[in-house]
Amino acid sequence: MTSQFDSKLHSMVLSEDGSYTAYSKEYDEHYHSTKDGALHESLVKHVQPAFKTKQDQNEITILDICYGLGFNTLATLYYYKKNNLTSKLNIYSPELDASLVKSLKDFTYPKEFDEFKNIILELSENGIYDDELWHVEIFLGDAREYIQTFPHAKFDIVYQDAFSPTTNPILWTKEYFRDIRNIIKKDGVLTTYSIALGVRLALHENEFILYLNKGENFRDSTVASLSTLEQFLYVNIQHKITCNPQAKSLSDKDTL
Ligand SMILES: C[S@@+](CC[C@H](N)C(=O)[O-])C[C@H]1O[C@@H](n2cnc3c(N)ncnc32)[C@H](O)[C@@H]1O
Repeated sequence: MTSQFDSKLHSMVLSEDGSYTAYSKEYDEHYHSTKDGALHESLVKHVQPAFKTKQDQNEITILDICYGLGFNTLATLYYYKKNNLTSKLNIYSPELDASLVKSLKDFTYPKEFDEFKNIILELSENGIYDDELWHVEIFLGDAREYIQTFPHAKFDIVYQDAFSPTTNPILWTKEYFRDIRNIIKKDGVLTTYSIALGVRLALHENEFILYLNKGENFRDSTVASLSTLEQFLYVNIQHKITCNPQAKSLSDKDTL
């Protein structure tokens, strides 16, 4: 199938839950796990675990690293509607690829996002959407720069959904997670699909406590917080370090 979305840099790919994701020719990687499915992965690895701890707040502020096809942002709106949530929601999302964002008005999203067509269009054309309940803002530029200069309040939730540490290491280093620690609330939660020990070490070295997000119909993922979370299985990182003494976190200098 071809679409106006397909370009020299990316093409649409059907994933196993029936939703389309994309393949990046530049990074040689899919935007989502084709096995777990694009929409399903967003919901079970990011939105649902994050909101398990956040239902009762008046206002929720999310950092969505990185916007990509916008699934994590749109799945959050879908989750809000489905669960009749009424707390004010702010989502801030950096994305380096401006042409990708512009092309999203031609992307074939799952039917669950049908009611957000106007929001998808506004975000694709103007990078911003705002109503009484929802504020969504895409920053076209480098996420590293964005998190160091972010002017608003701290984050309740961080969706850590960059390309893999092998492909895009600069968004997985201990220095990167140090900057994230500075802008996440003490009781904030970070969700990521990665269970790599190097990534967990980079979080651990920045005082994050690590948890396992486990379910029957998806591969394990990681939840991290500066506080204790009762809702998830604790990951004994000290034990993992003892068993893998050679493992180490990525550092900015390794990425040069
Ligand atoms: C795995 S995709 C994100 C998928 C997205 N969360 C979604 O649900 O569709 C990774 C994205 O990171 C973007 N990216 C890569 N390096 C970046 C950087 N330094 N700053 C901001 N965005 C970056 C890529 O252009 C790509 O769109």
